[in-house]
Amino acid sequence: MKKHLVLYKKLSPTLMARLQEQAQVTLIETLDAAGLNALRQALPSADGLLGASLRLDAELLDLAPRLRAVASVSVGVDNYDIDYLTQRRILLSNTPDVLTETTADTGFALILATARRVVELANLVRAGQWQRNIGPAHFGTDVHGKTLGIIGMGRIGEALAQRGHFGFGMPLIYHSTRPKPAVEQRFNAQYRSLEQLLEEADFICLTLPLTERTQGLIGAREFALMRPESIFINISRGKVVDEAALIEALQQRRIRGAGLDVFEREPLDHDSPLLQLPNVVATPHIGSATHETREAMARCAVDNLLAALAGQRPPNLVNPAAWTGPRP
Ligand code: DGY
Repeated sequence: MKKHLVLYKKLSPTLMARLQEQAQVTLIETLDAAGLNALRQALPSADGLLGASLRLDAELLDLAPRLRAVASVSVGVDNYDIDYLTQRRILLSNTPDVLTETTADTGFALILATARRVVELANLVRAGQWQRNIGPAHFGTDVHGKTLGIIGMGRIGEALAQRGHFGFGMPLIYHSTRPKPAVEQRFNAQYRSLEQLLEEADFICLTLPLTERTQGLIGAREFALMRPESIFINISRGKVVDEAALIEALQQRRIRGAGLDVFEREPLDHDSPLLQLPNVVATPHIGSATHETREAMARCAVDNLLAALAGQRPPNLVNPAAWTGPRP
């Protein structure tokens, strides 16, 4: 009998056809109330799931007794109850690598947009307020040659470091769970404690995953350590930051600005004080959102799912403890 796959993310026709060759596929197009209801109906017969941006907790997983594999179309896996998945021997996979460069591009777009006030000044032109040559009140701050501080030196951190070091001649400091000599050599980077980095960097960029250890890592104490010229960039997860403390730091001009692609709650509330601040550039979680990269991520997720359903180890297995060996 064909396996039953439930998708809660639309795929390109090519990828959809690949899945349909192997399995019966149910597609939930949107995760609104009706979509969630349809998902609940489909879960009891699901062998595999593929999607993103849905909190998959024990309550939902309990509706899926046959479930063998979950393929997330994301690198971040903070939406999943990994312990519970592992306990149930359900293989969770993600899509690393293919989104690294694009996400680092987003980080750099935010660095440039925030430092050079691109959005604020482009809006001024659009509003017909460009009536004479602009003066110091509208000047930005240089990016090249400034100190880039990266918190979380994983793949995306390294790709950001590459852009800063080779493209913009930026001295590089970083903080991560442990020093990385290869990174230090390649980018002439120096390891710092979190506190030292916050005190020294001109651009403070978060590129680390959301875990129990990183949740709320940057709060009032950390913003107080930053310099008034510093710019804060977050392309990781909103919950790594205490957003109320960030808002206060921005309102009180304790930091120069912030470039934010992620928020404590997404979509960001239109009433958020962040949107009242001209020195904030806010984007709607677009880290990996290009046509090419999203297709590559979806392809990677399909590869992971098909491998798992064929009884093989998915190439990007997140919870190896759930792997009990090949199955016929
Ligand atoms: C990821 O892949 O984790 C991106 O942030 C999209 O959620």
